[in-house]
Amino acid sequence: MQTIIRNIAIDGPSGAGKSTLARRLAARLGYVYVDTGAMYRAIALAALRQNAKTTEEILALLTDLTISLGYVEGVQRVFVNDEDVSDLIRTPEVSMGASAVSAIPEVRQFLFDLQQQLAAKQSVVMDGRDIGTVVLPNADVKIFLTASPEQRAYRRYLELQEKQKDAAPDYETVLQDVIQRDHQDMTRTIAPLRQAEDAVLLDTTEYDLEQSEAMLYQICKERLTEL
Ligand code: DC
Repeated sequence: MQTIIRNIAIDGPSGAGKSTLARRLAARLGYVYVDTGAMYRAIALAALRQNAKTTEEILALLTDLTISLGYVEGVQRVFVNDEDVSDLIRTPEVSMGASAVSAIPEVRQFLFDLQQQLAAKQSVVMDGRDIGTVVLPNADVKIFLTASPEQRAYRRYLELQEKQKDAAPDYETVLQDVIQRDHQDMTRTIAPLRQAEDAVLLDTTEYDLEQSEAMLYQICKERLTEL
């Protein structure tokens, strides 16, 4: 029997809970989770390490760069030239760098090819900013996951409080950050963040993680006949 390959695209602003929910959904469906933000972060890390600052320098770096995904006990790991960089890409410095490299068209093209190849060979839940609009326009299910800026900032604030304790920024600072990143993501000229016309909007402002997860699954169940 031929296996059906299914693609689920999840887009939305930062802090909407995309990666946690996408990971859980993939695990439940037995699909591969692809975190495309981690790929931009991996390029940013390589650029920081090589001190590549200009577009030319960053593009030169891509010729020798192999980015791949692996799975250790079901958890996605990101590799740059076979080195596991999964933990190294979660710093504020790399976040800033990822935002910068993601605005370079050739970087997007480089990752676009890789992302399409991954989705063509297996069923995936892929999350990012332009998955339903650009990378997988024919995805079986498209979801635009969002929450109010205040709610996203509040969730992020609690997370930082737990991790950084007294060193954590105050709520107002986190909120301004969220608003600024939304603006950057939505107004950039190439592949800006926007809801695909055929995407289902899931606003999780009023829901906790478990409720959001249940709703996400329900949306998929209504669209995928085999579930
Ligand atoms: O989701 P994240 O915070 O890990 O993403 C890191 C950066 O990469 C963020 O600035 C947006 C960008 N990005 C993108 O432009 N397109 C994607 N498909 C995923 C992430």
